[in-house]
Amino acid sequence: MKSKKRAKRVGVFGKALALLPVSCVLLYPLYLATQLDTVFETYASPALPKAFDGLRIAFVSDIHYGSLFMENRVRELVKRVNALEADIVLLGGDYGEDSEGAIRFFDLHPGFHGKFAVLGTVGNHDRTLPESNFPKLLKRMAQEGVIPVVNDVWTLEKDGRTLAFASIDDYFNGAPDFEWVAKLCREADFTMFFPHNPDALPETYSLSNQLFYQLALCGHTHGGQVSILGHAIKSSSDYGDRFLSGWYRENGMDILVSNGVGTSGLPVRLGARPQIHLITLKTADTEQSTISRQINKGSK
Ligand SMILES: [Fe+2]
Repeated sequence: MKSKKRAKRVGVFGKALALLPVSCVLLYPLYLATQLDTVFETYASPALPKAFDGLRIAFVSDIHYGSLFMENRVRELVKRVNALEADIVLLGGDYGEDSEGAIRFFDLHPGFHGKFAVLGTVGNHDRTLPESNFPKLLKRMAQEGVIPVVNDVWTLEKDGRTLAFASIDDYFNGAPDFEWVAKLCREADFTMFFPHNPDALPETYSLSNQLFYQLALCGHTHGGQVSILGHAIKSSSDYGDRFLSGWYRENGMDILVSNGVGTSGLPVRLGARPQIHLITLKTADTEQSTISRQINKGSK
């Protein structure tokens, strides 16, 4: 009788143990989506004029403010970004889940701060219908101190040299004007191109002025959001895993694709931790650019 009771107890305990990994597997993606890493990138390029050596750029993409990323998390995010004391803050788009949500994001008065400027482009979620929301969004961005860079270029001048920050309208849902943006960058000594979607990049390779930028910063893919062994379960890119996450070099240009901050569809992530970036630009004596990164894992 006694041994039967023990056997029963072991049986219940064993069953609980067997269930634990299952619940962990189910809960871990929810937990991961609540994390936020800061990735410190040092990008050294022989093409960068000495005037901009040491410039620090914060890059933040795919916030997806809404039911999956609420106001308290936006406040925490802005605090984290502003604490980096970047010279320029670049916002990579997808502020909300749709164009209404993107406008509501700026209605929060998020308060991003950069020493010289806060620049923002737009993503596919920001460019949903009605079309009349687009000018409203650009206006709200400007009112909140975020300079909209959409089929446009913003430049920083120092010691007679020009650093350009260029972007297009969203590649999927907008009207990107590559030729126009390339033209605007013609006089720049170094150009950072930050379209929301890295799928836009191959189209620039065939432009008449194909080398109009040296460094591209993109979001959109969310690192796959749910990725296993470097493969997205469901890719948001027409190129599959070609621009999944991290650094790439194509056609002479360096490309950084961010995992972004928020989530879309479901509040889950796997193999793609949420992240923001602080990129320090360096002038290099090397023939090719070099990149080093240090990841500070965070909890919010
Ligand atoms: Fe996104």
